[in-house]
Amino acid sequence: MLEKLADRIRRAREGVVLTGAGISAESGVPTFRGKEGLWGKFKPEELATMEAFMANPKIVWEWYNWRRELMGKVKPNSGHYALAELGEWFEQYTVVTQNVDGLHRAAGSPRVLELHGNIYRNKCSECNHLTPDDLEIDPTHIPTCTRCGGKIRPDVVWFGELLPEGTIEEAFAVSERADIFFSVGTSALVHPAASLPVIARQHGAVLVEINPEETPLTEFADYSFRARSGELLPELIGLLRRKGGC
Ligand code: APR
Repeated sequence: MLEKLADRIRRAREGVVLTGAGISAESGVPTFRGKEGLWGKFKPEELATMEAFMANPKIVWEWYNWRRELMGKVKPNSGHYALAELGEWFEQYTVVTQNVDGLHRAAGSPRVLELHGNIYRNKCSECNHLTPDDLEIDPTHIPTCTRCGGKIRPDVVWFGELLPEGTIEEAFAVSERADIFFSVGTSALVHPAASLPVIARQHGAVLVEINPEETPLTEFADYSFRARSGELLPELIGLLRRKGGC
């Protein structure tokens, strides 16, 4: 199956990858819904919503500071590096991620669309003005926006919020053009991200899924690998290298 996929990749022009928390699991970043998932300890409504932030900004910042500290220690894994290299076999190649950990860019992926924002960035909760990256946040003294006085919050998309202007439109546009669409490490449950593989398939893309567990996408995928991304993606790159050219 992997050989056939490698041959298919060599004939393709545009590749798109959608990643979720699973691609970072092997870096030690807990997923949201897996057994050790982040949500296991909290209900999303408690923390990742504007309502939760307005009601209890201190606990929301404590959670994000904990996640920043945890993520600050992790490095890209072999799956991130393999996805960065996979772009060499396509004329057009985009990584669309639901992750906020910045690991795709750290691994060298040149074109990354961050659908759900980036946990290391801060913005104003009122006017969305981005603050300097090195701004430390003390949950007991949350800084306010220099422009409008609004409370500073993480620049991530919370439940019920719209995705960043332009980013989701660009993600749909590349998915519609894709010759091959990879869904890697996502439960494919949260929309609009979960619509991207479906749109790609409807526009004629070959759909590839890499996930140790089945998801709602599995039955539609042309290639579905019950595998960890950190193992399977380097194997695919090795095959492509052995077949030469790119
Ligand atoms: N390799 C590939 N996939 C893996 C691995 C691995 N090593 N380990 C776990 N997975 C899979 C799990 O089987 C699961 O299907 O990764 C998926 C992670 O799914 P979720 O925890 O639901 O994370 P994700 O799909 O990214 O969630 C989407 O939901 O809570 C919101 O904003 C949050 O961006 C997140 C969105």
